[in-house]
Amino acid sequence: MREPNLLREPVLQWYAENARDLPWRRADATPWGILVSEIMLQQTPVVRVLPVWQEWMARWPVPAALAAEPPGEAVRHWGRLGYPRRALRLHACARAITDEHGGEVPADHATLLALPGVGEYTAAAVASFAFGGSHAVLDTNVRRVLARAVRGEEYPPQATTAAERRLAESLLPAVGAPTWGVAVMELGALVCTARAPRCADCPIIEACRWRLAGRPPHAGPARKGQTYAGTDRQCRGRLLAVLRHAHGPVPKAALDVVWDDPVQRERALDGLVADGLAESLDDGTYRLPH
Ligand code: ADE
Repeated sequence: MREPNLLREPVLQWYAENARDLPWRRADATPWGILVSEIMLQQTPVVRVLPVWQEWMARWPVPAALAAEPPGEAVRHWGRLGYPRRALRLHACARAITDEHGGEVPADHATLLALPGVGEYTAAAVASFAFGGSHAVLDTNVRRVLARAVRGEEYPPQATTAAERRLAESLLPAVGAPTWGVAVMELGALVCTARAPRCADCPIIEACRWRLAGRPPHAGPARKGQTYAGTDRQCRGRLLAVLRHAHGPVPKAALDVVWDDPVQRERALDGLVADGLAESLDDGTYRLPH
């Protein structure tokens, strides 16, 4: 990148004035709270995460508290965040932290990456936001901002590339990498949004190559929409809601009534069992995993 400072100062200034006050960004947030927030936020907007995160922190303030519960309790308290395998991954993570790290979230990137369910993004985010490490934090918002501002393209590639990683690393400031990372993320979440970017409010409009090129539309294949109604994912959500609200095993009939199409319903139920989100008992009933 020729002139990282053209981006850095205005973005940091904008963040200082516009950052949302989110509990996992406050000075009293724990590494565990930050880890939980990062996994919850991966596919879910902040407004939906907030109440569930608060409930989790009150219920399980330290990893050992969650580790002491059966995995089904993590699924039960996942609420309506979606992609509930994340609850199982957090539970597995809490057990590994408790058993292998004395109950403390590890600080270094490689150790975080070795935890179950922690990928490159989460390891970088926790090492950076909880421990002040200097890592490129490439979530979908950051990738979109860099695609536009630096590469002049409307959207980043489908999956993170080595070139994106090199670019993000080249932009890391010598000091204050965590603030820079969260500032770019916030710019992507609030201004440089996917479908209707608010360029008039953007602090780097003068430097943005996509804007300077006249905001050319994305040239590649159509980006897939997030249809939900009628999908297996919706069906799984309905079935899991029955199990989450029950206080013990439920008869199959209680599941059958929430989805009409029997073929799709059986496929979804088998999927929940295969994923470890539900257990099928010998008497034909179902429950959350023990
Ligand atoms: N603050 C820190 N990480 C975040 C994230 N993934 N989404 C929104 N705000 C955040």
